[in-house]
Amino acid sequence: MSGWLKDKGHLARMAGLFAFGITAFLVFRWLMVPAGFGLYGHYRAGALDDAGARPLHYAGRAACEGCHTDIVEARQGSRHARIGCEACHGPLIKHAQAPTEVKPTRPDGRVLCVRCHETNPWKPKGFPQVKVADHSDSGPCTACHKPHAPKIS
Ligand code: HEC
Ligand code: HEC
Ligand code: HEC
Ligand code: HEC
Repeated sequence: MSGWLKDKGHLARMAGLFAFGITAFLVFRWLMVPAGFGLYGHYRAGALDDAGARPLHYAGRAACEGCHTDIVEARQGSRHARIGCEACHGPLIKHAQAPTEVKPTRPDGRVLCVRCHETNPWKPKGFPQVKVADHSDSGPCTACHKPHAPKIS
């Protein structure tokens, strides 16, 4: 054996190593990439169905407003009008689907308000906030403020 091919054993081993590596990669990829991957982009298409199958918790403001037109009226012109119903009332899709069977409890007219309105220097300046301890006694805020239209005068 002579000339440039005299050491071809090295090349054969190298080629074998590459062939093994590439095969291993292809097998691994075939095992690990889930079905539907790449159908709509760089994600698993079935994830959309999985997300769609999860139970809903919120009905959305439009649903509430369809039935509770009196509350819509009460909120009109108030600064609370833009807040979603379920931000205060919690997730209520079960009530929206069967209003008389699932009756929601009324939110606590103090705990709820304090959650958003207690003074906190991190809140934007224009956001209405009070030092709760100075502003009121320990009773409900709703003794003075109507929850759907809280401005008093
Ligand atoms: C399909 C019509 C309908 C939809 C949609 C609906 N409600 Fe109701 N809701 C009712 C009816 C009717 C009652 C009265 C139930 C009763 O007294 O048995 C009620 C009662 C309530 C009560 C209790 C009132 C009380 O007197 O204590 C609250 C609070 C309430 N709904 C909030 C909501 C919110 C928030 C939504 C949106 C997530 C919503 N509702 C969606 C019809 C509806
Ligand atoms: C800022 C918080 C807040 C938002 C936003 C809010 N509510 Fe209320 N809601 C309350 C509180 C607190 C009560 C309980 C009042 C009480 O116990 O006197 C209440 C009571 C109710 C009641 C019982 C009847 C009544 O007139 O008091 C209904 C029905 C109701 N809300 C529906 C709605 C609907 C529908 C929306 C959205 C259009 C909504 N609420 C938005 C805080 C809120
Ligand atoms: C989810 C948060 C949230 C909750 C809960 C909440 N509020 Fe508010 N409230 C707001 C926001 C946001 C504004 C002002 C919006 C804006 O910038 O116009 C506001 C405004 C107000 C104002 C000023 C009204 C005006 O016209 O100047 C009062 C008073 C008030 N809320 C009282 C209450 C009371 C009482 C409760 C409990 C029944 C309550 N809020 C519950 C978010 C909340
Ligand atoms: C004894 C009656 C009374 C009670 C109880 C009460 N407030 Fe007030 N609150 C007022 C009055 C009066 C104002 C003056 C502004 C107005 O007309 O709304 C006011 C104003 C506010 C404002 C607006 C501040 C601003 O800078 O615009 C917020 C927010 C507020 N209250 C939250 C609360 C919260 C939260 C509670 C419960 C912890 C509560 N209030 C309990 C009477 C009361």
